[in-house]
Amino acid sequence: MKTIFENSIKGRKGVISGEVNNDLIKKIDEKFLRKEELSLPEVSELDVIRHYINLSKLNFSVDTEFYPLGSCTMKYNPKVCEKLASREEFLNLHPFLSYIDEDSVQGVLEIIYEISRLLCEITGMKKITTQPYAGAHGELTGVLLMAAYHKAKGNNKKYIIIPDSAHGTNPASAAMGGYSIISIPVDKDGNMDVNILKEKINEEVAGIMMTVPSTLGLFEKNIKEIIELAHKYDALMYYDGANLNAILGKLKPGEIGFDIIHINLHKTFSTPHGGGGPGSGVVGVSGKIMDFLPVPEVIKENEKFKLNFNIKNSIGSVASFYGNFQVLLKAFIYIILLGKKGLIKVSEVAVLNANYILAKIKSYYDVPYNRICMHEFVLSARKQLKNGVHAIDIAKYLIDNKIHPPTVYFPLVVEEAIMIEPTETESKQTLDEFIDIMIKIAEISEKEPEKIKQAPLKTPILRVDEAKAARELKLKCDI
Ligand SMILES: Cc1ncc(COP(=O)(O)O)c(C=O)c1O
Repeated sequence: MKTIFENSIKGRKGVISGEVNNDLIKKIDEKFLRKEELSLPEVSELDVIRHYINLSKLNFSVDTEFYPLGSCTMKYNPKVCEKLASREEFLNLHPFLSYIDEDSVQGVLEIIYEISRLLCEITGMKKITTQPYAGAHGELTGVLLMAAYHKAKGNNKKYIIIPDSAHGTNPASAAMGGYSIISIPVDKDGNMDVNILKEKINEEVAGIMMTVPSTLGLFEKNIKEIIELAHKYDALMYYDGANLNAILGKLKPGEIGFDIIHINLHKTFSTPHGGGGPGSGVVGVSGKIMDFLPVPEVIKENEKFKLNFNIKNSIGSVASFYGNFQVLLKAFIYIILLGKKGLIKVSEVAVLNANYILAKIKSYYDVPYNRICMHEFVLSARKQLKNGVHAIDIAKYLIDNKIHPPTVYFPLVVEEAIMIEPTETESKQTLDEFIDIMIKIAEISEKEPEKIKQAPLKTPILRVDEAKAARELKLKCDI
């Protein structure tokens, strides 16, 4: 009996040969025509199902295991957000429709308008552009806005100041925007060194880009002093808000003087970050930057939503249409679902979970900045290194214990860095299991370091030469 799969293959052949017979066959030289039937793989439906189910089982995901990948906020996202965002009414919509017939897409425009309004409320900024497709794209947009602001004022600015605890994309974005970077080291407590900042800042500084909480998982203690200093030189304050998961409902960057912020909807608001999938790095601005925002923006006029292309000194569009609508939609549903209280709880539990783990394991590892952390924290494997165990070995051992490795060797300012972000969606039981494994790793590193260095031993592919794997990428494997 033929399976559905076989029939569908035959069906395809029929369609293809039918078209060729009728229209094109006479034009093709005889010598190029196929003499016998094309030999397509003939496999049963069951074989296909088994193949793909087994492949999917090799996947590591938040749905199956704990995923404390620092800096990525790999939390569990409610399935209802996916489900609602996948409704046909949204999926089948052509973005051009909003350009030619605003009346037929009022609902969609309203969602974009409302998510912008909600994000302004959350961040304390005056206006939001939903265009940027990722955090780094938001940063570049922010830097272009900075440049437009200074140009309009006739300022001659050449530099952007960035602490070395900022995310690595910050200096890259500043450089792409045409600025040179002045890097400021952190002090002994992990804050930007304000004394060095005071020496370096000058009239030619266009802005200061700060990641808050920083990549060390710490809240910047001197933030107010830094903002005052920047504004004295008409330098703009940029808030890298990709780590918003730590401060929801606790701090509104716009209210303490930040001029530009980007946030990663694909970390905090119901779209995962680590999968390399679609993202949204929306950018919020204070009143003095509003006139430079990208076009179009969604506005409300006489109870109707429309696209406005008329922003006085707009830097132009930085993406097609209004960005990744599906990601905006999921964020909108998530915010409505959780409400104000729920969002505040997200941050409180995210910070609590990180501090719980830190308190339990800090005597076993080196902690470079021994402070209360925010939603994530950074350890160093320096202690374990005395027995030859590196951060990468610990990461590999965790895989054997069905835990996704934390981020390792980032941030660069910490030797043998291990960056752990548990997120708010994990239970105390999961955190305790992780704590036990981390303590066990520290103990084994003392007595039998080779055991850790050999890991992973339970994965389909064992230890790979990572540099070679990156340089000689082989996308097929014979598992
Ligand atoms: C603090 C910070 N800034 C910027 C980014 C860059 O975001 P994206 O990867 O979406 O470009 C990230 C990514 O995780 C981040 O953690």
